[in-house]
Amino acid sequence: MTEIQRLAEERGVDLNRLPVHVAMIMDGNGRWANRRGIGRLLGHREGYKTLREVLLNCSELGIKFLTVYAFSAENWKRPADEVDGLMRLIEGAARDELRTMHQNNVRVCVAGRRTELPPGLQAALEHGIETTQNNTGITFTLAVNYGGRAEVVDAVKSLVSEHVPVDMIDEAAIGARLYNPDHPEPDLMIRTAGEMRWSNFLLWQGAYCELFVTEKTWPEFDREALIEACLSFQDRTRKFGALAE
Ligand code: FPP
Repeated sequence: MTEIQRLAEERGVDLNRLPVHVAMIMDGNGRWANRRGIGRLLGHREGYKTLREVLLNCSELGIKFLTVYAFSAENWKRPADEVDGLMRLIEGAARDELRTMHQNNVRVCVAGRRTELPPGLQAALEHGIETTQNNTGITFTLAVNYGGRAEVVDAVKSLVSEHVPVDMIDEAAIGARLYNPDHPEPDLMIRTAGEMRWSNFLLWQGAYCELFVTEKTWPEFDREALIEACLSFQDRTRKFGALAE
């Protein structure tokens, strides 16, 4: 048993009923930085440190899929220096963390319109995906240039370009054309920094996921907060539109 599993059990988490797929909206880097009177990019840098810890903690807790919203399709509207800084940070992270992730048996995936990203970042992501594709530990998906509506649009484009007949179009046909069709739907979506919004993240897959919002900003999101989210998840009755058993 790992240390975080022991801690989680102590707090009352049932390790046999963990969410299989956890999605995270990493919000509040800017506010964290503002409160300290430092630049927003330093907030994102701190957010990167948090993400490293979160990935390790999720993996050691026994979560099988972690998907994080690193850059939304709408984030291009931010000032150029912030966009540029984020692209560099994500590319640097993809390169610098690959070795450790591979050693830890992490399988890296990406969700989003990859071809619109800077070429260096595309190359780093592709290298990460290829290197880790046969790993059997946690699947870590970086949503970059990701939009939930764009993902559905891209799936519809695939249907049309494959000439799929109208009567063959159903939820399974769309689901099979999403960015990572082999991933299960998220069970739990965590959002930091208090905002009660969905923000176009995993719209299709998140239809029945449980939401957990914490006031902590992303750089403050720690092991305790992750355990709290799991406890809250286990308190819910999931009915998927049916009646409770
Ligand atoms: C939202 O905070 C956060 C982002 C738009 C970027 C998320 C990026 C990271 C956590 C950096 C590390 C990522 C990787 C993959 C290395 P915000 O800027 O909207 O915060 P605010 O709402 O307080 O302004």
